[in-house]
Amino acid sequence: MGTAKADENFSFIFNTRAIRARPGDTIAAAMFRSGIRIFTRSFKNHRPRGLFCMTGKCPNCLMNVDGVPNVRVCTAQARPGMEVKYQNAFPSLDFDLLAAVQKFSWLMPVGWYYKTFTRRGVWTAVEPWIRKAAGLAEPPPTIDRIADRFPHYEHVNVHAGVAVVGGGPAGLSTALDAAADNASVTLIDNQPALGGRLRYTPSEEANLPELVGRIQAQDNIEVLSLSNCFGLYEGNLLGVFRPRTTPDTTEQLIHVRAKRVIVATGVYEAPLLFENNDLVGVMLSSAVERLIGLHGIAPGRRAALIGGGATAERLASRLREAGIEVAATVPLGQVVGATGSGSVNGLQTKDSRIACDLIVVCGHLVPDAGLLHQTGAKLKWDEAKGAFLAGELPANVTAVGDVEQRQPKSRQHHGQRLRDLYSGGCRPAGVSRESRSPHSRRRESGLPRRTRRESRQVRLGPQDDVFRNGPGGARQNRLERD
Ligand code: FES
Repeated sequence: MGTAKADENFSFIFNTRAIRARPGDTIAAAMFRSGIRIFTRSFKNHRPRGLFCMTGKCPNCLMNVDGVPNVRVCTAQARPGMEVKYQNAFPSLDFDLLAAVQKFSWLMPVGWYYKTFTRRGVWTAVEPWIRKAAGLAEPPPTIDRIADRFPHYEHVNVHAGVAVVGGGPAGLSTALDAAADNASVTLIDNQPALGGRLRYTPSEEANLPELVGRIQAQDNIEVLSLSNCFGLYEGNLLGVFRPRTTPDTTEQLIHVRAKRVIVATGVYEAPLLFENNDLVGVMLSSAVERLIGLHGIAPGRRAALIGGGATAERLASRLREAGIEVAATVPLGQVVGATGSGSVNGLQTKDSRIACDLIVVCGHLVPDAGLLHQTGAKLKWDEAKGAFLAGELPANVTAVGDVEQRQPKSRQHHGQRLRDLYSGGCRPAGVSRESRSPHSRRRESGLPRRTRRESRQVRLGPQDDVFRNGPGGARQNRLERD
């Protein structure tokens, strides 16, 4: 395994090919820059799949990384010398013989194998072949071989007064508020740098460098970056997975126990339904913005946008700035489907066909409420947002920012974006009122600002002293390695 200086380009291996990567690149971004467009093949019909969400929310970029199967390479950081391999294609991703299955897909409805191979002995004979053709990846090596390859895994315990999940504008301002109340704060973010969408979407509503500077200046805020919070369990226990990010580090399973958990996971963009929406070259608008804003990559030459209103306008000017021609902006109601075999070559609307090699989908925004659902909060369908939302939360769990559902402005925001898809008027996600600090909300509601003493009593309570930092700030958070 090689090493590279923080500001130097480096290489890793994709099958037998060397891929150049820039510091801060994800594996997928480096591969995309090198001209790779097909990342996986679909599970059954082996249709080609390209980058679609860039946030780890779809199955389009699963690959084997250093022997670990099914890693989403759009969120995995590139490291010098790493070995990346594609899965479920033969003999190559670009030319997959199993794609011939598509021709016979009409013969193979769901569960056809159970209904077809019913004769005694036949199923036993064909099952291994069907499993081999349908599987997504080789099984991981045995435990012994994993231990040889990755000798060190760490199990870490962190104790904090307040754990904030999400490093976007709402998470940052909430962490600062909690730190101002002298709480020991653990801020968990799955990105390599703080800021959420502000990192790749220019905004005048928040000053990201200033916010991040204030976070770094706080001794009692500990930031766990590149850390995926996958579970919120009884007793405010958070399960966090931190992957290996440099040759010198190890994978970590971090147990964060906090007196209060604040969920600021924001929203994610949902795909839209139209024919051939899985072709290579159909991408969510947030994925396109990430490629342009974070990695300096233009994902196409000529684009068609599905959406409307201010979001589509802003995106169109962003694409033009990146050197991409914008052929048309089409409301979803006018879309018939994408055209092309394998990758996009056009967008068919009710009136005409638009030639393009990139279709940017302005999907509606859905609260990323997975952690809230795990608290036992009942799910309720919200017609306006087109999503299941969590109801009442336990006493020590709070939601802030766009993931919070009970704030009227948030409701308007999501509903507006969903309606605009059809009527031609998407709005960009902004820093909503609920993402401002509790003190600002209190000021706006006419209530006097709480004194620090009141805040301590109301928000954490005197019994929380055991979780509060003393004069050493976050450095006094207990960090135990098993
Ligand atoms: S999960 Fe990687 S592109 Fe969607």
